Amino acid sequence: MSASSDYQVFCESIDLDSKRIPKHVAIIMDGNGRWANERGEERVFGHMNGINSVRASVEAALRTGVRYLTLYAFSTENWSRPQEEVNALMDLLVSTLVKEVQDLESKGVRLRTIGDLSTLPKACQDQINKSIQSTQHLDTLDLVLALSYSSKWELVEATKKLMKSGVNPDDLEASHIEEHLATSGIPDPELMIRTSGERRISNFLLWQLAYAEFHFTPVLWPDFGQENFYDAVRDYQNRNRRFGGLLDTNHTMSKQG
Ligand code: FPP
Repeated sequence: MSASSDYQVFCESIDLDSKRIPKHVAIIMDGNGRWANERGEERVFGHMNGINSVRASVEAALRTGVRYLTLYAFSTENWSRPQEEVNALMDLLVSTLVKEVQDLESKGVRLRTIGDLSTLPKACQDQINKSIQSTQHLDTLDLVLALSYSSKWELVEATKKLMKSGVNPDDLEASHIEEHLATSGIPDPELMIRTSGERRISNFLLWQLAYAEFHFTPVLWPDFGQENFYDAVRDYQNRNRRFGGLLDTNHTMSKQG
């Protein structure tokens, strides 16, 4: 059976339209700290358990044929957390990559990052680069980790590059800005999910989410499983996407990547 008929059969079995699967899903993984506190544990315990939800989301994306999955793993603002928590998150990132990269590779997952990697500890940078290299030839799913990322940082960087490129301001078009974003070549997300009941974008993909549908769920990130991912896609498929126009003409309208 071809990959597309696999997706079709699976999507039908969970009441999803395989022809209207978002090509790119972005997730703000929120609520790890609260999940841990509810259990009388340290916040780091929540982050550790959050890895199961990362795994579940990757699996759900693979099963439904989502082509790009972007996870907000560490924001520029997260550097202001207690050093102990920052260190634990960095260690968790390294240990998770070491443990999971072979499995990701076997499933055709290509690892990518957006963000200012130069601010990450050297061990982290090394492991990320190694994982990126060993998966760069794969094309079933692009798993994009936003690390030391914020949208305002990205837009400032893009503006610097544009100014240096000497582009005539009168000739400036949206595509020039897109070319200089960290997500250059990746289509904009059609669906953005945020867990834990918060309803904010928190400096995440401000440009790229211009026409995305937002799905907010009260589920805390470590409790977010495959079913929650499918619920979000089902919610997305029930929306009437108009892109500022009047008709629901094209559910997958986005630039190609
Ligand atoms: C937000 O919850 C979560 C984070 C800042 C970190 C998310 C990171 C992971 C789940 C690990 C990622 C690792 C890989 C390999 C992708 P919070 O701490 O803000 O929760 P709270 O709002 O309840 O305090």
